Amino acid sequence: MTVVTTASRTAARVQDAVKVYGSGDTAVRALDGVSVGFPAGRFTAIMGPSGSGKSTLMHCAAGLDTLTSGAAYIGDTDLGALDDRRLTLLRRDRIGFVFQAFNLVPTLTVAENITLPLDLAGSRGDAEWIDALVDVVGLRDRLHHRPAELSGGQQQRVAVARAFAGRPDVVFADEPTGNLDSRSGEEVLGLLGRAVRQMERTVVMVTHDPVAAAHADEVVFLADGRLVDRMESPTADKVLDRLKAFEVPS
Ligand SMILES: Nc1ncnc2c1ncn2[C@@H]1O[C@H](COP(=O)(O)OP(=O)(O)O)[C@@H](O)[C@H]1O
Ligand SMILES: [Mg+2]
Repeated sequence: MTVVTTASRTAARVQDAVKVYGSGDTAVRALDGVSVGFPAGRFTAIMGPSGSGKSTLMHCAAGLDTLTSGAAYIGDTDLGALDDRRLTLLRRDRIGFVFQAFNLVPTLTVAENITLPLDLAGSRGDAEWIDALVDVVGLRDRLHHRPAELSGGQQQRVAVARAFAGRPDVVFADEPTGNLDSRSGEEVLGLLGRAVRQMERTVVMVTHDPVAAAHADEVVFLADGRLVDRMESPTADKVLDRLKAFEVPS
């Protein structure tokens, strides 16, 4: 009998990831040989100074951008082996995204925004799952409102529900609290944590905020395009101390 535990699976990973933007004198080595795995059923934060390659790592791991060399996998699927059409389908069916900008469709209601990826895929989705999700994000009484009638925090909660609607293998979030006040930010971060712990989801979040990173199970640190450290059970203070070590006296 084979026993597969959630904790032992890797939802996404990159191997020897190199990303160079541009060429010649102006080339920027945004990723300089990163190997890192993001375990299923866990909330991982990617941290590091501005320009350290956090967004690039997330975009390449999520199939939004391609590596210059090395490999990126979602589960066992090698993204480099997929043509554009298959990559688009993989992003649609197996990955959820949350960005700093909420990217909701203004003419659709909250309910319609949440199920938009499923509707585009021609899938009815899992009604029970969506229903549970609406409660987790606390939007039951806002389902028929339009985004403009919601606060920023509520809009981002819609975006979080949309990211999880299709039960993706992994949800990637890039600075999801970057446009929110600290209270709304805390709500969104609490939500991501609950999705992982209560609904067995996998989240990979880019942030430069130690308070945000403290919501994760583990933090991976980038500096100058390299993976320099990992920290289990982070606290804001421990993360801040670790980040201070990157600061170069000027
Ligand atoms: N599209 C791009 N073209 C050229 N350089 C880029 C591009 N995107 C990012 N970079 C550069 O790559 C490095 C890493 O950027 P990024 O991954 O956005 O860092 P972070 O998210 O940690 O702030 C930076 O030096 C940035 O200027
Ligand atoms: Mg970034």
